[in-house]
Amino acid sequence: MREILKAKDICKSYFEAGRELTVLKGLNLEVNKGEIVFVVGHSGVGKSTLLHLLGALEKPTAGESYLNGVNLYKLKEQERAKLRNEKVGFVFQFYHLLPEFTAWENVMMPALITINNPDRAGQKTAVIKEKAIKMLEEVGLGERVNHRPSQLSGGEEQRVAIARALINDPEIVFADEPTGNLDTENSRSIMQLIRGLNRRRKQTFVIATHQEKLGESGDRMIRIVDGKAIEEGK
Ligand SMILES: Nc1ncnc2c1ncn2[C@@H]1O[C@H](COP(=O)(O)OP(=O)(O)O)[C@@H](O)[C@H]1O
Ligand SMILES: [Mg+2]
Repeated sequence: MREILKAKDICKSYFEAGRELTVLKGLNLEVNKGEIVFVVGHSGVGKSTLLHLLGALEKPTAGESYLNGVNLYKLKEQERAKLRNEKVGFVFQFYHLLPEFTAWENVMMPALITINNPDRAGQKTAVIKEKAIKMLEEVGLGERVNHRPSQLSGGEEQRVAIARALINDPEIVFADEPTGNLDTENSRSIMQLIRGLNRRRKQTFVIATHQEKLGESGDRMIRIVDGKAIEEGK
């Protein structure tokens, strides 16, 4: 199977104050292993919603989504949470680092959560500590491991968030406007980092952005238009 991700006829409506807002209207898409796919479209079109659905953070109103052939919404909540923690990484626009912890501790956090999981026995704290340092070195922050988020620049904070997203060796990483808060120079360098990680680790990235220029650094671009996905020619 080449595809790691497959979404079929995804619909998503939000109900608020007695009104229904339909954001996704029968969206289909496939992502192959090892690709960097950009999801573009103007603000409010449903990019974040789609990433949450594909990453098993939320359920659609209708439709199905498969991760490595597993039907995400047929899983029980607990199984879905386990799969999400082990197979999926998330990177967000505002980093969401825990301010009272160092870069090193922030990166370790998702791995510490799995420590009691029998499938991951052997992932002991000492191993996780060392792995977190290696991840921080890989994202270019080997000299900043003991800094807290307030002592880091925006670009550095996002690198920490990327290292954190990768600590459990996810097969797929969803990044929602990962450079939305960064200047051009830092955006470019974060994209270079993502491309390097993708090549070295063969990980798949799905990146939502309203900055269309960024999309050129991916393998494919998918545009959300009126609740459906359209493949952009490159
Ligand atoms: N939890 C929610 N409840 C109600 N409406 C929401 C919710 N999340 C998103 N929306 C609405 O759905 C639409 C799509 O939002 P979003 O997926 O965040 O778009 P994008 O990421 O492309 O900017 C927007 O109109 C937004 O206001
Ligand atoms: Mg968004």
